Amino acid sequence: MEEKYYSLLNYGCQMNESDTEHYAGQLEELGYKAIADFHDADVIIVNTCCVRESAEKKIAGKIGELKAVKTKNPELVICVAGCMAQKDGDKLIKKHPHVDLLLGTAYVNDFKQILLDYLAERGNKRRTRVYDDLTIHQSEFEGKMVRQSKFEAWIPIMYGCNNFCTYCIVPYVRGRERSRSMENIVAEIEAAVADGYKEFTLLGQNVNSYGKDFGEKDAFAKLLRRVNEIPGVDRIHYMTSHPRDMSEEVIKAVAECEHICENFHVPFQSGSTEILRRMNRGYSREKYLELIALIRKYVPNCTITTDIIVGFPGETEEDFEDTLNLVKEVGFDAAFTFIYSKRSGTPAAKMDNQVPLDVKKARLNRLMEAQNINSLKCNEKLIGQVVEVLAEGPSKNKDVWNGRTRTGKLVLWPLEGKTYQAGDKVYVKIDTAQTWLLKGKAVDNG
Ligand code: 5AD
Ligand code: SF4
Repeated sequence: MEEKYYSLLNYGCQMNESDTEHYAGQLEELGYKAIADFHDADVIIVNTCCVRESAEKKIAGKIGELKAVKTKNPELVICVAGCMAQKDGDKLIKKHPHVDLLLGTAYVNDFKQILLDYLAERGNKRRTRVYDDLTIHQSEFEGKMVRQSKFEAWIPIMYGCNNFCTYCIVPYVRGRERSRSMENIVAEIEAAVADGYKEFTLLGQNVNSYGKDFGEKDAFAKLLRRVNEIPGVDRIHYMTSHPRDMSEEVIKAVAECEHICENFHVPFQSGSTEILRRMNRGYSREKYLELIALIRKYVPNCTITTDIIVGFPGETEEDFEDTLNLVKEVGFDAAFTFIYSKRSGTPAAKMDNQVPLDVKKARLNRLMEAQNINSLKCNEKLIGQVVEVLAEGPSKNKDVWNGRTRTGKLVLWPLEGKTYQAGDKVYVKIDTAQTWLLKGKAVDNG
């Protein structure tokens, strides 16, 4: 039989990366092989993101580019999946008639059957098939999984979001919160451990709400403790947390469980209580700072990271300075900083006093400058310490390897005649700290 190839173009968050791994698994079950150059593929999936306009523009350009590939190879199946397919399906079909399948966010695990059905229609007049019902419950994944990493696995624990932050499109394209059962999650992790996986990231838009849809109290803390007990699990991460829902029980679980890594990613979005109110975030600046104090009480040596938006409608210079001084006060290890992007259909898109782009850009620069100082300071504290690293692979200079600490910091160290495998545990004594990375030398043990 002739060999068939697939190519996956992934954009966006970790949930999308996880979905893309599910697509890869299903395609391989059907006998397709991965190929890096999409020009030579028989099936292309573009897994899309619409959280900001910049992402959408880039992806729309890529979908347009695929028209020429389809003209050369009319048998090619182009599938546009994920958040843009969910949000703008109708527009996409009109603009890009070369797309064969539009797959909304709840159909990831049904892709295999959908593709088979579509291929069976060959010979009939082909037109785009659309799957975009958000009310269905995403099916459990039962097939083969092709993960990107050989030791680190994404584990979705829930889908969707109920929060409706006023700037955010996610609840409209990923639907309401649906949690996976604890048994299914544990079974997936156990199977991954049997395949050699050591590091696990539990994924959800709002992981602290895990299990609320089946009425269970403190379900996320219970899940963390349960995963911690699985033999072979070395490192557990989770994202993303909502400051309003982050409970003391979860913080205690992190403090008490050996394998849960001591990083807290708690997006605060704005340091101004008034902006937070208009964002519908459900907490004030003071409440957020109380949460940070509670985290530091239980886990004094933790790292704290965050997400911040600048230029939300109506953000004044004073509001922005509240964000800036919160960043300085907390001293985050790292921050993902974003310029507010108007998403039509969200309440904030209709708010008065949209902030001009040049003001947003200037604020972003000031914010990044302040955060870079924090990142460097946090990293400098590690000079002279021995950190535990999971090796990832060689860096650009092949004589130097890189890997990550338990809290996700990038570390580089010279091989010095040794050989490593991805996933090896290495202890590195840090001698140099930069804003984005640490350097040091491997030592015998921690
Ligand atoms: N504009 C800019 N940033 C956004 N985010 C979500 N929606 C928007 C938007 N419309 C950011 C938030 C969130 C992160 C994943 O993306 O900071 O935490
Ligand atoms: Fe968007 Fe808010 Fe839900 Fe996060 S919690 S996905 S920012 S609506």
